[in-house]
Amino acid sequence: MPSLFDSFALRGVTLKNRLVVSPMCEYSSIDGFANDWHLVHLGSRAVGGAGLVICEAAAVSPEGRITPDDLGIWKDEHVDFLRRINTFIVAQGSVPGIQLAHAGRKASTYTSWKGSGAVPVFFGGWQVVGPGDAPFNYDYPQPMALDAAGIQKVIADFRAATVRALAAGFQIIEIHAAHGYLLHEFYSPLSNQRTDEYGGSFENRIRLTVEVVRAVGALLPNHLPLLVRISATDWTKGGWTIEDSVELAKVLKAEGADLIDTSTGGNVPHASIPSAPGYQVEFAERIRREAGVATGAVGLITTAAQAEEIVASGQADLVLLAREELRDPYFPLHAAHELGADVAWPVQYERAKPRQAPS
Ligand SMILES: Cc1cc2nc3c(=O)[nH]c(=O)nc-3n(C[C@H](O)[C@H](O)[C@H](O)COP(=O)(O)O)c2cc1C
Repeated sequence: MPSLFDSFALRGVTLKNRLVVSPMCEYSSIDGFANDWHLVHLGSRAVGGAGLVICEAAAVSPEGRITPDDLGIWKDEHVDFLRRINTFIVAQGSVPGIQLAHAGRKASTYTSWKGSGAVPVFFGGWQVVGPGDAPFNYDYPQPMALDAAGIQKVIADFRAATVRALAAGFQIIEIHAAHGYLLHEFYSPLSNQRTDEYGGSFENRIRLTVEVVRAVGALLPNHLPLLVRISATDWTKGGWTIEDSVELAKVLKAEGADLIDTSTGGNVPHASIPSAPGYQVEFAERIRREAGVATGAVGLITTAAQAEEIVASGQADLVLLAREELRDPYFPLHAAHELGADVAWPVQYERAKPRQAPS
């Protein structure tokens, strides 16, 4: 029976445990650059003992940013600071990963603490793109439908971003195909009404995701794994379903994806989502069982016992934490103590390591 503090190998990369820092946008960049905030934010979570730290959604093009403040990886100048962060993460015995993203029709919006809805062009916003011209919501920007050349540019942008991510020392690449951003917009029937080879049938709607996965995968050396985050359901009648996700996972596995990071929702504003502890785990479990591919579970996982149970019962191979890692960057060290696993603490913090087993 696997345990949370067992190592886990993905191709040639071995994670020291199954706890992952889920990608979290910090909206703290200027012109896409990482800075001291990202170094401290990601670095302290590596110090905290996570096996894998996935850097927030990094926009593969300026128009693919959710907000003007997003992290980016669309130019070579972005690489240097990211490399500095990764050197630190590796020195802590953790693995640095990055999520490559394009926000599609949900781009050009305000950072939550600055406003809401669309950022107009004259305030630094931009023309957004999507599968069609329908906006996500009434206060979101009106997208322009991508034409064939636009689609090829998206794929080329993911490709170029991958080359930069490798140059920056990331050892795991995750493609963001969830939460109502561009790739999800294409595979969901709720947002894709195209009549060309990228719309209509299931095969056509998943085509862009598959082409991006194939393009990125072709650039990765054999020992480096590729993850894909999907939304396993739209939580909406007539939308994308878990059955669709199982089929997509089978295709992505055949294309070389090593793990499906299983999230849900985000593609329509008024979906009714039954949020509760571990409410998305069942989807990770089903994809793992029915598509025969490794999965990550995410969403309202907040305790050591809950995370251990997910791994031990074979519901998922990895457990991703977002908000709990913000509350407690040392969650993995605390969880190890709680579960009685003897893990190494940073030598600088050794004197604070609890010696007693929890009662
Ligand atoms: C501040 C913040 C930023 C986030 N940014 C991203 C992101 O860049 N990419 C992504 O796929 N999900 C993002 N998410 C979603 C989380 O990765 C995670 O899936 C979600 O918060 C549920 O996990 P939790 O209950 O542990 O927070 C973000 C969540 C938070 C709280």
